[in-house]
Amino acid sequence: MNWSEEQKKVIETRGCNLLVSAAAGSGKTAVLVERIIGLITDPTDPVSLDELLVMTFTRAAAEEMRERVGRALSERIEKDPENSWLKLQRAILPRARIATIDSVCQNLIRQYYQELEIDPGFRAAEESELKLLRMDILKKMMEELHEEADEEFLNLVDSFSGNGMDERISVLIEKLSSFADSCEWPDRFLLEQEEICQKEEDGELSGLSWYESVLSSIIESAREYLPLLLRAEEVCEEPGGPDPYLEGVRESISYARAIMGCSAYEELWSTVQQMRFPALKRTNKNKHDPEMTAYVKTVRDSFKSFVTEKLQGKFLLLKPEDLKLSAAGAARVNRELIRLTRIGRES
Ligand SMILES: Nc1ncnc2c1ncn2[C@@H]1O[C@H](COP(=O)(O)OP(=O)(O)OP(=O)(O)O)[C@@H](O)[C@H]1O
Ligand SMILES: [Mg+2]
Repeated sequence: MNWSEEQKKVIETRGCNLLVSAAAGSGKTAVLVERIIGLITDPTDPVSLDELLVMTFTRAAAEEMRERVGRALSERIEKDPENSWLKLQRAILPRARIATIDSVCQNLIRQYYQELEIDPGFRAAEESELKLLRMDILKKMMEELHEEADEEFLNLVDSFSGNGMDERISVLIEKLSSFADSCEWPDRFLLEQEEICQKEEDGELSGLSWYESVLSSIIESAREYLPLLLRAEEVCEEPGGPDPYLEGVRESISYARAIMGCSAYEELWSTVQQMRFPALKRTNKNKHDPEMTAYVKTVRDSFKSFVTEKLQGKFLLLKPEDLKLSAAGAARVNRELIRLTRIGRES
């Protein structure tokens, strides 16, 4: 095989952790098999197959791996028929620990069940069983919560008015829980999110990802309008340009700069609140080039609708205190949902 430079590096690197990511079918398994053969045939420190642990996601991949290692060994033996080390390796290949992550974990638990204080008769549940189990736990939990009638829980329930709210809440809890499972430290992640909600409830919006991304996308949009508006200003001043529009365009330029200079919602809100777009002054077809006129008008109108429709009408619609109230309301519900998710995971 003519290995590529990158493949060679992966095959030959030793003594550190390696993470290889490459496209499907690009030779990841081939390289891993070659690394294994390289370890076995290392001239100074040969490793035996029974000292290796090779884990895959699927059984099919484990079988493929075992077969490919076997084939690679046979090829080496054909070239070097007297090599007893290689023949020994081929003989122990069926016992080599080439297996799925699941089965490796199960074997570990089986071997050490006493230390782990687990019933030796344990077995792994099927995904469908787990789902039923989880649903069962959630159902009981919801019943208890309804009985306790805690204020925060009632507030959560209130925000889910209508039929089947218990189910809808349960589904959200499950989703949150499985999302948490994809994080490195699921419980810590949930606790952190709860704290973030608490801050939001207390009216502290800065630092929240939705808040920061709304602000920065507004400011970024204004930044993108600026060169267009500056160009429109130039066009107004060129011979034949629609100079009656100059005033309106310059106003828009100052608006765009004002938005770019803001850093918090309050500031943006009060700045944008004051923006008005009086009708542009009339142009004259005989004096002003129609194409240039249309160009300037399009740029200015597009900025105008960005401010009036997108900002005044949508993203900066709420007064700062109303935004805080509504964010706090949502955060309160979310915090309870996250808390229930944590409780559910403990059961
Ligand atoms: N440098 C190379 N030169 C020639 N053929 C190669 C080279 N590297 C890999 N191959 C061949 O490409 C094919 C795919 O390789 P391999 O199965 O290792 O890819 P993979 O990345 O593991 O694929 P998958 O993502 O499907 O698991 C194999 O037949 C392998 O022998
Ligand atoms: Mg592969």
